[in-house]
Amino acid sequence: MGTRLDLNGKSAVVTGGSRGIGRAVAITLADAGARVTIADRSDALRNDGLSTSDVIRSRGGHAESVLLDISSSPEVDATMNDIAGRHGIDILVNNAGTIVSGTVAETSDESWRAIFSVNVDGTFYCTRAAIRHMLNRGAGGKIVNIASVSGLRANQGFAAYCAAKGALINFSRQVGIDYGAQGINVNAVAPGFVETEMTAMYDASIRHALEAQTPNGKWATPQQIADTVLFLSSGLSDHLCGEVIAVDGGWLVGTPVQVG
Ligand SMILES: NC(=O)c1ccc[n+]([C@@H]2O[C@H](COP(=O)([O-])OP(=O)(O)OC[C@H]3O[C@@H](n4cnc5c(N)ncnc54)[C@H](O)[C@@H]3O)[C@@H](O)[C@H]2O)c1
Repeated sequence: MGTRLDLNGKSAVVTGGSRGIGRAVAITLADAGARVTIADRSDALRNDGLSTSDVIRSRGGHAESVLLDISSSPEVDATMNDIAGRHGIDILVNNAGTIVSGTVAETSDESWRAIFSVNVDGTFYCTRAAIRHMLNRGAGGKIVNIASVSGLRANQGFAAYCAAKGALINFSRQVGIDYGAQGINVNAVAPGFVETEMTAMYDASIRHALEAQTPNGKWATPQQIADTVLFLSSGLSDHLCGEVIAVDGGWLVGTPVQVG
């Protein structure tokens, strides 16, 4: 490719890469030349019966899938050490996440813990394993956390999810400044509303309302999120440290108002 978006020779791990945003990220990084490991607790197949790694291999790329529940610290350490030993880890995309709706009064201990154990604890375990490996190797690296606009602004009726994504954003900033001097760039992407299985729960009236609140009037495609992840995984982002990039059609910037 010959550009600084070229990821040939790099090894990337994408958590939750079986479907949705993670699938688009994994395919995009592989198209840029990276060898990609998809680490997901389930190996979801597309309608055509292909897994994400099947799709990457069919495009001439290098990929493998491993089953991993990121909320288990010992499982994460074993899997990340195995990947690091075989391919090294240059890029980690912490994408796996889960959502639950509910105000504080409606949220049980179990659902609060479930949201934090994946979105926050799981991201911490994967990040720690990758950072230890990157420090040992001394060659720097890239870590991209998939947060959410819900971590930057309250989102009515999603108490646990907003709290978890807010924690993830400040975690990104903290790890970003702790390891910037070692050449490890840690940054976050905050997607707005993206067409995936996660948002399939929204009915037409909610979709229209969210579109109306969004300055460009559209939801994102998973590919649009993956394009920003590619930038943050590449040499083009070498001077970004603890940054959060919203990919939301302007939703955080302002609300369109119809006058007259
Ligand atoms: N879709 C949106 O509108 C949107 C908006 C903002 C942020 N996000 C974030 O983007 C990320 C991806 O979302 P998506 O819409 O593609 O979701 P999705 O539900 O379609 O996919 C999530 C993937 O993560 C995997 N996963 C969940 N828990 C896991 C665990 N414990 N261990 C390993 N893998 C696990 C699932 O198996 C699945 O493949 C999430 O972190 C989500 O919070 C999504």
